[in-house]
Amino acid sequence: MSGGIRVEEFLERITPFWQPHQGQLEFLRNRAAVQVLACGRRWGKTEACAVRTVASLFEPSPTQHLLLAPTLDQARLLFDRTVALLEALGETAKVRSSPYPRLQFGPHVVSARSGHVPRSLRGLGATDIVVDEAAYLPESLITEIAMPMLATTDGRLTLISTPHGKNHFWRFFHMGQRGEHGVWSRQAPSSESPFVSAQFLAVQRELISERAYRVEYEAEFLDGAGQVFRDEAVQKCLVPRAPVAEPPFAIGIDWARYGDYTAVAVLSGDRADCALVELHQFHGTSWSEAVARVADVVERFPHASVLCDATGLGDPVLEWLRSALPDHKIDGLTFTSTVKAELIDNLAWLFEQGALTMAPDPALLRELQHFQAVPSSGGTKLGAGSGFHDDLVVALSLAARQLRRRYRARVQVAGPRVFSKGKRG
Ligand SMILES: Nc1ncnc2c1ncn2[C@@H]1O[C@H](COP(=O)(O)OP(=O)(O)OP(=O)(O)O)[C@@H](O)[C@H]1O
Ligand SMILES: [Mg+2]
Repeated sequence: MSGGIRVEEFLERITPFWQPHQGQLEFLRNRAAVQVLACGRRWGKTEACAVRTVASLFEPSPTQHLLLAPTLDQARLLFDRTVALLEALGETAKVRSSPYPRLQFGPHVVSARSGHVPRSLRGLGATDIVVDEAAYLPESLITEIAMPMLATTDGRLTLISTPHGKNHFWRFFHMGQRGEHGVWSRQAPSSESPFVSAQFLAVQRELISERAYRVEYEAEFLDGAGQVFRDEAVQKCLVPRAPVAEPPFAIGIDWARYGDYTAVAVLSGDRADCALVELHQFHGTSWSEAVARVADVVERFPHASVLCDATGLGDPVLEWLRSALPDHKIDGLTFTSTVKAELIDNLAWLFEQGALTMAPDPALLRELQHFQAVPSSGGTKLGAGSGFHDDLVVALSLAARQLRRRYRARVQVAGPRVFSKGKRG
């Protein structure tokens, strides 16, 4: 869109079925080359970007849009809203969904890709790139892949996300606050959106820790106080592509209890150099189904060492898993506060050493970010705080506990040589 007036025209056209709230309107009217929206959950970030994308499909000159997110499912969310909006306008586009979602509307093209496949993105050009959950993608994807794609087209970059510590997303946000390098940024809590009810926010505030609420719903860039896993250390472990799976494998399982999720993490390598090759989360399934789904994952990794939480309910479930997988060695671990502290310490150590490599998974990254050490009457309480999940972190720590140490050859050093003057023979 080449001027503010055209945005107004487009918004007028969609008024019968969509009106922006004040914050979205400011974003849609802004013309900066780089825009950063650091807003709370449900604020309407994804929706605002879908509207902006559709608006530019009515420009006379061809546009090429790339919608990026940590996972293809997330990128598809933005893509689907773009398609829905076009349909609501009574327009038809040529849409295909594989190998990745792509639509063609006259000379305009919109495609959605996950941030896991940057190599195939290299060399492409784009006039507009939107990065959803930008704080959860590796910085290199934005600076080394997305920005060069815009260089020849003089294109626009939009980064939207809830904050995730003081990482690259925070740095872009601050450039915008200082008005540097053509960056514009805006920060807003979820409550700015009239579509987010006060009652919903009140319930969330009760459910999750205060810190998690401030990050997720008030869009605050909090530093690492109380955090067990430092954002910076975790960020350094991120790679854009899921690492190649090579044995030896170590699998950790955290069974769902009290309505939580069952989580499975598969690591490969050893303590000096390991990679997260798979991560699964199953919700709301019966015990027999949960065991069957976990067994399906484990079966694909012959000779993997397997460790699961065997506290309380976990114990009989462990027996079911053993009978489902008679050829695997499956161990159980009963959690006490000391055992949990050791597990978590060990995982934090891997992050601090930069020994772990993983593709960004927003659910895991959120859990890591909100995992806290809180002083309590019985010592330090470790966990996500009430309401927030920590099953992915626990599964990952159970996998990490089984990683082997790399063998270090020890050279036998002789003791000091004593030359005695004693008599011979
Ligand atoms: N201007 C609007 N008019 C009507 N509904 C809206 C508007 N903006 C957002 N919504 C609705 O609010 C909800 C949240 O919007 P959206 O998914 O875009 O938020 P988000 O900030 O991307 O959230 P998340 O952090 O969960 O990704 C959706 O149901 C969406 O349809
Ligand atoms: Mg969104």
